[in-house]
Amino acid sequence: MDTTRRAVVFDVGSSSTRVGLSSDQTPTIFPTLVTKSDGQVRVGGPGETIRVQDMMIANFDHVTKIWEHGFELLKVDPKEHPVFLNKPSYPSPTAQTEKMAQIMFEEFGVPALHLNYPAVMALHGHGSDCGLVVDSGFSETQFYPVYQGHILKWPVTRGLRVAGDYLTSLLLDVLQKKGACTYTTAEQIKEKSFYVSGDPETEKPTPETCVLEDANVTLLEEKFKIPEELYTSRLECCGIHEYVLKTLYKCDPELRPTLFKNIVLTGGNSQMPGFASRLEKELIKSLPYYKTLHNERPRITVSAPNVAWIGGTKLASLPTFLDTCMTMADYDEYGPTLVNTKFF
Ligand SMILES: Nc1ncnc2c1ncn2[C@@H]1O[C@H](COP(=O)(O)OP(=O)(O)OP(=O)(O)O)[C@@H](O)[C@H]1O
Ligand SMILES: [Mg+2]
Repeated sequence: MDTTRRAVVFDVGSSSTRVGLSSDQTPTIFPTLVTKSDGQVRVGGPGETIRVQDMMIANFDHVTKIWEHGFELLKVDPKEHPVFLNKPSYPSPTAQTEKMAQIMFEEFGVPALHLNYPAVMALHGHGSDCGLVVDSGFSETQFYPVYQGHILKWPVTRGLRVAGDYLTSLLLDVLQKKGACTYTTAEQIKEKSFYVSGDPETEKPTPETCVLEDANVTLLEEKFKIPEELYTSRLECCGIHEYVLKTLYKCDPELRPTLFKNIVLTGGNSQMPGFASRLEKELIKSLPYYKTLHNERPRITVSAPNVAWIGGTKLASLPTFLDTCMTMADYDEYGPTLVNTKFF
């Protein structure tokens, strides 16, 4: 293998897939959807649309199509490039990561493979290896304390089931009562108009006209009231700030202030204006109940779009990257189980 070859970096999310070479500044992005027609599965084109969510467990054929499509878009031969993949869930079931390795080495013939979690990569893309990552993407808002580049397992709880998909569905319900509206239209309107209010009790939203297929509708309080689900959801007993504090309080007391001072927001849903400032406000309000952090103020940063992919490219550009990979020779010698000792 030519060790100077750039790696192909994937961040496959439930909503979008980001792919590019480690030397690229921005990824190519496409929806994580496959279509099925005439018994064939492909990416794009007409047919029954399937979202490749929880993909590894549900259907490896589908995610293989997504990877294949990524290689095709970049016009690269997978046999000639190391590959960086994200692990889709935490903790990743070992059978799942083994299957990922098996497909990469046996079907695509990649020379070397590296796996890591998007939360760790988001922090890496942000330039640090210790912090609390709040990933509010498509299906869940998740909380990961990361120390020296590893997720601390014990404090990770089930995520908050409020994220981009849920907010879009709530808006879609509202809009469909007023006119014909598709999920995609509702998502576009949401991304343009939604924000997180600093004080929902006194908020005075400005009206906004949205164009539906057969009607014009005016959005007003929905613009900030639907995102309030992050704090007072019908699905959950507590809000996002309480999830942050619960996660912190499961961490070692000595580590809490460090994590509290590096809270990194990632995922498309966190791009809503006001997301970080409201979270800061709610955390400070809750602090008297959390005594050991009394004198600390949180420091919250909204990361750049696609930061997990950017983190992957940074890692894959290090001169030592190939030393951290599982190679085809390793795979031939030890088999797919090595992937779980190498990338834990
Ligand atoms: N400016 C924005 N305002 C509000 N929501 C946004 C904005 N930009 C993106 N989103 C929402 O973020 C969600 C997608 O987030 P993201 O791309 O992080 O998900 P993903 O990585 O594909 O999925 P996963 O949840 O598996 O990580 C979508 O619901 C999208 O509508
Ligand atoms: Mg994601």
